[in-house]
Amino acid sequence: MGTPKQLKTERLLLRGWVPTDNEPFAALNADPRVMKHFLKLLSREESDAFIGRVQAHFEQHGFGVWAVEVPGVAPFIGSVGLGIPRFVAHFTPCVEIGWRIAAEYWNRGYATEAARAVVEFGFETLRLDEIVAFTVPDNLASRRVMEKIGMNHKEADDFDHPSFPPGHPLQRHVLYRLARPNQ
Ligand SMILES: CC(C)(COP(=O)(O)OP(=O)(O)OC[C@H]1O[C@@H](n2cnc3c(N)ncnc32)[C@H](O)[C@@H]1OP(=O)(O)O)[C@@H](O)C(=O)NCCC(=O)NCCS
Repeated sequence: MGTPKQLKTERLLLRGWVPTDNEPFAALNADPRVMKHFLKLLSREESDAFIGRVQAHFEQHGFGVWAVEVPGVAPFIGSVGLGIPRFVAHFTPCVEIGWRIAAEYWNRGYATEAARAVVEFGFETLRLDEIVAFTVPDNLASRRVMEKIGMNHKEADDFDHPSFPPGHPLQRHVLYRLARPNQ
């Protein structure tokens, strides 16, 4: 499959992963502010393994989670992209969009700008029928990004994430959906 296709926006470059991303990505994955709504912080090994799985996903499917660069500002600020969840739920199989940005770059519109480019790629190039996103109800910043890119939430779609132990405070998730326009 070769190198992932790069996506360019006004301020951002979404690109394939390079070895110098491993260290800042591990720092982001070890930051309790960034990982507040996830099961746990990641070690350097787990973070590197995550990048390995992302690269394998690109190889297998031709799409995945891109590394995000802000040319002239920062060589790496986080990740935004598409993935196929491995768990089973009422809305799977599906393609999800996700984002993770280093805390020092929050609230500058970067996640939203990157997500819009990813959505366009998903619908126009991959011809996906639908893209979903999910998070815990309290993750208001992430939900806001979902709303800003036009996703819709219906309470009836909310679900208990199977990767969390039953009764875990983060188990309940909200699901947002976005259908390909003009279908
Ligand atoms: C979610 C995340 C990627 C957003 O990145 P970002 O680049 O800051 O996003 P944007 O700047 O494009 O948009 C953030 C929006 O959330 C809003 N927001 C931020 N914190 C908020 C809060 N605590 N409550 C309500 N809204 C909040 C911002 O005001 C902004 O909305 P606005 O443009 O209407 O003002 C980032 O917060 C992050 O990495 N969080 C940790 C990882 C994570 O939870 N990922 C998602 C898992 S599903």
